[in-house]
Amino acid sequence: MKSNKIILFFILISTVFVSCVKQSENNSQNNNIEIKVNDLLSKMTLEEKVGQMTQLNLDVISNGEIYKLDEPHQLNKKKLIKAIVDYKVGSILNCGGHSYSREHWHEIINQIQKISKTKTRLGIPILYGIDAIHGANYTIGSTLFPQQLAQAATWNPELIEKITSITAYEVRASGIPWNFSPVLDLGRQPLWSRFFETYGEDVYLAKKMTASAIKGYQGNDVSSKNKVAACMKHFLGYSFSLSGKDRTPAWIPERELRQYFLPTFKTAIDEGAKTVMINSGEINGIPVHANYDILTKLLRDELKFKGVVVTDWEDIIKLYKIHKVASSLKEAVKISVLAGIDLSMVPNDYEFSDLLIQLVKEKQIPESRINESVKRILTLKFELGLFENSTALIKDYPDFGSEKFQKISYEAASESITLLKNTNNILPLSKNKSVLVCGPSANSLNILNGAWTHTWQGIDTNFNTKNKATILKSIINKIGQSKVTYFEGVTLDAEINIQQTVAEAKNKDVIVVCLGELPCTEKPGDIEDLTLPIAQLNLVKALAKTGKPIILVIVENRPRIINEIENLAQSILMSYLPGDEGGKAISDILFGDVNPSGKLPFTYPRYTGSLIPYDHKFSEKLDKNFTENGYNPQYPFGYGLSFSNFIYSDLSLSSQTISPVDTLIVKVKVKNTSNLSGKEVIQLYISDTYASITPSVKKLIAFDKQFIEKGKEITVVFKITKDDLTFVDKNNSSIYEEGDFEIYISNLTNKFILKK
Ligand code: BGC
Repeated sequence: MKSNKIILFFILISTVFVSCVKQSENNSQNNNIEIKVNDLLSKMTLEEKVGQMTQLNLDVISNGEIYKLDEPHQLNKKKLIKAIVDYKVGSILNCGGHSYSREHWHEIINQIQKISKTKTRLGIPILYGIDAIHGANYTIGSTLFPQQLAQAATWNPELIEKITSITAYEVRASGIPWNFSPVLDLGRQPLWSRFFETYGEDVYLAKKMTASAIKGYQGNDVSSKNKVAACMKHFLGYSFSLSGKDRTPAWIPERELRQYFLPTFKTAIDEGAKTVMINSGEINGIPVHANYDILTKLLRDELKFKGVVVTDWEDIIKLYKIHKVASSLKEAVKISVLAGIDLSMVPNDYEFSDLLIQLVKEKQIPESRINESVKRILTLKFELGLFENSTALIKDYPDFGSEKFQKISYEAASESITLLKNTNNILPLSKNKSVLVCGPSANSLNILNGAWTHTWQGIDTNFNTKNKATILKSIINKIGQSKVTYFEGVTLDAEINIQQTVAEAKNKDVIVVCLGELPCTEKPGDIEDLTLPIAQLNLVKALAKTGKPIILVIVENRPRIINEIENLAQSILMSYLPGDEGGKAISDILFGDVNPSGKLPFTYPRYTGSLIPYDHKFSEKLDKNFTENGYNPQYPFGYGLSFSNFIYSDLSLSSQTISPVDTLIVKVKVKNTSNLSGKEVIQLYISDTYASITPSVKKLIAFDKQFIEKGKEITVVFKITKDDLTFVDKNNSSIYEEGDFEIYISNLTNKFILKK
C-alpha cells in the first residue's frame, strides 16, 4: 500500500515536472519567436510591411485570366515576380477553379516559396491558405468527410477531433499550412445557403464541436508537419441575416450576439485558434469589416485574441462598392485597417497595397497600426515553421487518402445519418426485398458531398473522387443488381419520367426515394422558398398511390420543408451532406448493417413561416388560440431514432438545492431493452423557471454519447455548476440568478433550486 503511494507520488511529481518543462519550452519558444519577429520587422520597409498584409488569389499569379485560368493549371513566372518580388505579397489563397493532385500542389507551393525565399530581400515565406472544410477538398485523392452540419449530427466530439486531425494531415500533405475552417456561425436561419457549413443551431453543441475542431486542426504544436492553423469564421453574426439571403443585413442586438453567436468564437480563442475571418455582411447597419467595436474592442481587448484577422473575399472593396460606408476605395482601406483587420483577402488586384502605402505616407494611418498586423502575420509564419521548412514531401505522408482515414469518414457518415421516422419498424429492410431506387440524389456523388468539393459549388462531376459509391451503387453492391431497379423520376426541380417510375414501383417490394438539393453555397445558394421543389414532392405523391412502402432519404444543405409528403413515407432518413462515404453509410443503415445514432443538430421546421429554434421563448409556444401549440416543428432538435430501444429511468439529483459553489450531480439510467446494441445520445436540458431576461423553454447544457449493449443498462452521470446556468443579462454581462430550475433528460424531469 505504502509503495503504491510512493509510486503515485513520483508519477505526480514527474507529471508536474514534465508539464512545467513543456510550459517553459513553450514560453521560451514564444520569446524566441518574438525576438525574431521584432528583428525582422525592424528591417522592413513600409512596402514590405504592406505586402505582408496583402493576400492574393491564386488566379492572379496563374496563366490565363482571373476566374478563367488556362488548363492545365500553371503558375505564370512574370505574374509571380510582380506579386512576390514587386509587391512583396505575403499570402496567397485558394485553388484556381478545381482540385489538384498533391504533386501539382507541391509544385505550386514550392515555386511560390522558392521565389519568396530567394528573390526577395528578406526571404519571408508565403502563407498559403485554403478552404478545406470537409477534408482536403481541393486535393485529388484526399479523404472527404461529411460536411460540418452532418458532423454535428454525430454528437460525437471525439470523432470531430479525428476528422479535423486527418484534414490537417492531408492539407499539410498538400503543402498548405492554413485552413479556412471551421465555420463557427450558428445555424439559426435555415434559409441560409451555408447552413450545412455550421454546427447547427445550439450554442452548447456547437461549442463542443468547436473545441474538438481546433484541437484536431492545430494540436499542441502547429509547426508540426501534420497540423495546420485553423481559421474561425466568419466573425461575427454572419449566419443570421434577416432575409436568409447570403451577405444581407443581420439585426442582432449586443445581448443576443453575446448569448448566441459569440460563444463558439470565444471557445475557439480559448483553445488557441490562430486566425479568424470576418463576416462579409453587416450587423445593425455596420459592415463588420468596418466595425472597430467588434474587431478591436471585442476581439482584441475583451477576448484577448492574439492571432491574425483576415478579411473575407473582396470585403474591403465591398465597403465602398456594396455597403456604401466608404466613398472611395481608399477610404474603405482606411476604415477597415483602423477597425482592426490584419490581412486583406483583396484578392484580385494590387489596389489595396497601393492605397495602404499612400495612407501611411499621408499619416492617415499610423505605421504603428501596420506594425501590429505585420507582427501577428510574421508570428504565425514562425509558429507554422514556414521559415525553416515551408515545403512538404509527399513521402512524409503515407496515410494520405488511406483506407484507415476513409474508415473514419465512413464512421462519421454512419454516426450522423438521422432516422426521423420508422413506422412499424420498416427499417432495417431485409436484403431479400426487391427495391425501386429513384429520385435526384440517388445516383449523385456531388449531392452527397455538397459545395466545396473539388470545386467551389461542388457541381462539376469531372472532378469527383474515383470509385466512390452513390446511394444507388451502394444498394446494388449490398443486395445485388437483380433486386434493384433505378429510375430518376425527377431532376432536382423538374419532372422526367414519373409515370414510368410509378409503373416500375408496382413490381417492387419497397421504394427508396432519394430527394435533395443542388450543391451550392454563398450567393449562388440563395433560395426563394424553403419548401423542397414541387417536382420532388410530386414524385413522392405519385409513388404513394402505389401503396408500396416508401423510404425517404433526404440529402440536403438545409432543412427543406417536406410537410406535404412526410406522412406518405413509412421511414425517413436525414442524411445532411454525408460526403464520399455517405452512399455506403446510407445503404448500411437501410439494410441494418449500421444502427443509426445521429440526432438533429437543428430544429426541422414544418412550415416555411415558422422557423423557430428549440430554445425559443415561452411566448413562441402560443398559437392564435392562445394555446401552447405555436411551436410545432416537423422534428425537434436532438431528435433521432435507433433500431434499438432505449428506456430512461431514475433521474436523480445529488441535492434539490445548490449554492453557487456547489456541483450538482445528475444521474440517469438508460437501458437498451432491445436485442440490438446501439449508441444513444443522452441529452440534458434545463429550464430557468423565472429570469430577468425571458428564459428559453429549454436549453441544452450537457450530453453524452454512449454505446449500450443489448439488454444492458448504464448509469450516466453529469455534473452541473452555476456556470451552466448563466445567461447574458440586460447589461450584456454573463450572470446567474437564484431560483428554480427544471431538468429534462428524455421524458424524465426533476427540479432544483439555486440559492446563495
Ligand atoms: C467565403 C469564405 C472563404 C473565402 C475564401 C469567401 O467567399 O465566404 O468562407 O473562406 O471565400 O475562399
